[in-house]
Amino acid sequence: MTKIQFNDNSGETRIIDVENGTTVMEAAIRNAIPGIEGECGGACACGTCHVYVDEAWRERVGGRTPMEEDMLNFGFDVRPNSRLSCQIKVSDALDGLVVTTPERQA
Ligand code: FES
Repeated sequence: MTKIQFNDNSGETRIIDVENGTTVMEAAIRNAIPGIEGECGGACACGTCHVYVDEAWRERVGGRTPMEEDMLNFGFDVRPNSRLSCQIKVSDALDGLVVTTPERQA
């Protein structure tokens, strides 16, 4: 199990235990994290799972895929640390990961 911290834009923090191999989006949906919708089920086709990766974690999480980059072009308030959470696979290496949900999804 890997701990992931979700912050929302109101400053509320939720820390959940996530099974390795799932995605950050799936973990958010299963745990009713507000602000992540995941409408396409993780196919990188909706952009409603947008999160900001904490600066300290950016390198470990890695960069965007080209398809993800295309979807983020339609996102709301996209920043250099924006990622689609359905494209972030959970593993031990991400234990303690911190992400923040945007004010709204696109
Ligand atoms: Fe649709 Fe991530 S769930 S792009």
